[in-house]
Formats: sequence, C-alpha cells, structure tokens
Amino acid sequence: MELTLRAPELARLLAPGQPVLVKAGPTLSPYLRRTLYPIALRADDFTLRIAPSADWGDAWLRSAPAGAEVDCLGPVGTGFALHAGTRNLLCVGEGEAAWRLLPLVEWADEAGVAVALVVGAPSARSGLPAARLPASVEYHLVTSDGAANVARPLLSTLSDLLPWAETLCASASLDVYGGLADTVRQARFTLTRGFAQAIYPTQFLCGTGACQGCVADVAGGRRRVCLRGPVFDLADIVGRQAE
Ligand code: FES
Repeated sequence: MELTLRAPELARLLAPGQPVLVKAGPTLSPYLRRTLYPIALRADDFTLRIAPSADWGDAWLRSAPAGAEVDCLGPVGTGFALHAGTRNLLCVGEGEAAWRLLPLVEWADEAGVAVALVVGAPSARSGLPAARLPASVEYHLVTSDGAANVARPLLSTLSDLLPWAETLCASASLDVYGGLADTVRQARFTLTRGFAQAIYPTQFLCGTGACQGCVADVAGGRRRVCLRGPVFDLADIVGRQAE
C-alpha cells in the first residue's frame, strides 16, 4: 500500500536515502514514530510504501482516508550523494529495503546517468516490479526460490557489473553488506573509499540525535546513525579499513 503525502516544504528538503518519521496513530499511542523511506519524491509531495506487516501503526496508516493529516518529522540525517561525473551507477537492494533506492534510481536516470539495479528477493512475486522503474534502467531481479537467504545469488550476480560501475549504492541488511564488501574487493581488487554507499538499516526514535536510540558501531566508533547516516560509506559500515 502506498501513501502520498502533500507537504511541499518537507518534500523539497528530502534527498534520496533520507527517511521521515511518521506518527502512526491519532493520539499519543503508538508513541514511537515509524521510520519510513519515501519511494518517490516530487516537488510538492512524496510517497511512502507501507509494507505488509502485522504492525497496528502501519494498519492505521493504511486505513488513513484521503485528506487525512499525517504528522511527519524529517528529513532525517544524510542521504545518497553521487560525485560529479558519475556516469554508471550500480544499485543493489535486498527485499523490502530495495524500495528505498527508487528515488535515487529515478533521480540518476533523469540526470542522464546509466543505472543498473540488482534486487534480491525470496520470489519474483515479492520483488520490486520492473514496471516501477524508468524504461532505461537495466534491471536484474534475483530470487532465492523461497529460501530465506538471498545473499548468495544476489552477490554472485554483481561480478560483471562491478567493473562497469563508477558508484555503488545499496539498501540491504548488514549481513549482505559484509558479503557485498568482499564481492567488491574480488571484482575491483579494493574497496576504495567513496566508491560504495549504503543505508544503515535501523529504526529511529527522535531523528535528531537526542535519544541515543540509534547508536551503532559505524564509521570507526559508536555513532548516532540519525546524525552521521543513515547513508554511510560501505567501508564505514563493514568496519574494515578501506584502501
Ligand atoms: S534516533 Fe534519537 S539519537 Fe538517533
């Protein structure tokens, strides 16, 4: 289910890879906001995907009538940033997290960047539909035939694309990021700082650095992901020295 929110001031501030914190109920309950990443950004509005779940806050958002007011905070942290002159962009997504890459894919495609997107999902039915992508994007949907772990088939698809890419952007689990860093080293010999960016997967409570609820071992120490991320250099997430 998708929810389009008209909020010109917030929409203009949002960059691909930045989440918003959404109040998922009419009262103080539920107290915790939901961390949601826009799947489409436009000048005056943005679209959130409410993924299938048993969460009753999500259920409230799904049932919000047209015209309802939804309380959002954002944007949180820093998003993706392509360095000037990027011509070939490789995006790698896993499951639901792949949807977070859509604004980046659209933005890069409109800017004339050649984009390849590789998504791993348990089945073709659960993967991001090709129809959601610009026609010029090279799309690979890799499935694990129902097995829980899609990392192996996902990563093995990248070896031909990694030498082509000038920048890699990813949205996946920490397990996949570890394998992704190894795969980059095998294909390109090094994991050069600045080559790969990734969304650190976590939930945010305040989104402003006040609660310490998002602290994680990243970028060489205990960091508040909402301030330093959620998009980090992949080398900072996997915790090894980049060459
Ligand atoms: S979400 Fe509160 S400090 Fe990051």
